[in-house]
Amino acid sequence: MSKLRVGFIGTGKRKPQRDALGYAMAYDHGNAYRALADQCEMVACADIVEENGRAFADYFGFEKVYTDYREMLAKEKLDMVSICTWMHLHEPMVVDACQAGIKAIYCEKPMANTWGGARRMAAAAKQAGVQLTFNHQRRYGVAWTTAKKLLDEGAIGDLQRLEAECPNIYEFGTHSIDMLSFYNNETPAKWVIGQIDYRTEALVFGGHTENQNLVLVEYANGVFGLIANGAGGRGPVACFTRLIGTDGVIEVYPVGGPALRYRPAGSKEWIVPELGPDPDLITAAIGDAIACLKEGRKCQLDVSNALIGTEIIFGAYESSRRRGRVDFPLEIDDNPLEAMVASGDLKPAKR
Ligand SMILES: NC(=O)c1ccc[n+]([C@@H]2O[C@H](COP(=O)([O-])OP(=O)(O)OC[C@H]3O[C@@H](n4cnc5c(N)ncnc54)[C@H](O)[C@@H]3O)[C@@H](O)[C@H]2O)c1
Repeated sequence: MSKLRVGFIGTGKRKPQRDALGYAMAYDHGNAYRALADQCEMVACADIVEENGRAFADYFGFEKVYTDYREMLAKEKLDMVSICTWMHLHEPMVVDACQAGIKAIYCEKPMANTWGGARRMAAAAKQAGVQLTFNHQRRYGVAWTTAKKLLDEGAIGDLQRLEAECPNIYEFGTHSIDMLSFYNNETPAKWVIGQIDYRTEALVFGGHTENQNLVLVEYANGVFGLIANGAGGRGPVACFTRLIGTDGVIEVYPVGGPALRYRPAGSKEWIVPELGPDPDLITAAIGDAIACLKEGRKCQLDVSNALIGTEIIFGAYESSRRRGRVDFPLEIDDNPLEAMVASGDLKPAKR
């Protein structure tokens, strides 16, 4: 296969301090494609702020800059596009790219700002035969992959419960909940019950995110998932991900602990495996997506896997709205958190 022609939608603007108003994730994607230059070539970008696009093109050393991404898709004969805009734009951009004859789309997380949007993106990719992947890059981190290896080797027996702690289940939590899918072999959930607290407005990349959450999930294989955070920075899980098995526990990034530790049942001592250095996670992730595209394999970042976590996120918000358990498949179209704010059911105070 000749080099893939790569384009970008939404370049962002580099600034000294990245924040919830601009992280310029496209630069991380650009660095990854540069590291993969034997397989791909960056040829064009589109940003409604022309100077953002121009600065990006100059930084990565290519010419073509558009202010209309549809024009770029129509003219540039791209093989692959990275979508690095805020989440409310992911759905229309993914759908347009699917219809433009692209082979692969690498889109930032979270998938979409509504459950209906996430499903429409999946349907558009399926219909067009496009590889659609999402930047859940933690799947390539050495602590996380070593934990999976320990689990698969039986270090803690059979998996019974997964736990995660995240500031919100939507914008950041998509990573956490995606990692539960990773450990549970991409098993879909059967139901979710959840409650959220949203007393102070927290807009992240343009989307509302709750202040506190408590979510319980049962997966189709009987494994439970528990996602919870505390108030004022102290949380009950105190760990990025905890894996609880019949014969022990694995912790990935426990608060105040090493990147990874595990404790067989009956032992008082934690075992701390020696870990090599992390690869650049986004280069590893995009490299894997490209390898899978070339070999016709499903990538672990595939839309079908991303949908499992996304259904839990919007299902948990729906459970809060309905005040009850939500059985899957999730039959809603909107984002219940956004809808509750719009209707006045939730009235977060302005910061
Ligand atoms: N994977 C991660 O770890 C991680 C970390 C931070 C952010 N993110 C995600 O990355 C995504 C992008 O966030 P960001 O902060 O990097 O974005 P950003 O604000 O830095 O850049 C977005 C760019 O999109 C442009 N844009 C807006 N509308 C457009 C349109 N119609 N056509 C073309 N360009 C348009 C804007 O002008 C801006 O330059 C978000 O979904 C966010 O959740 C992921």
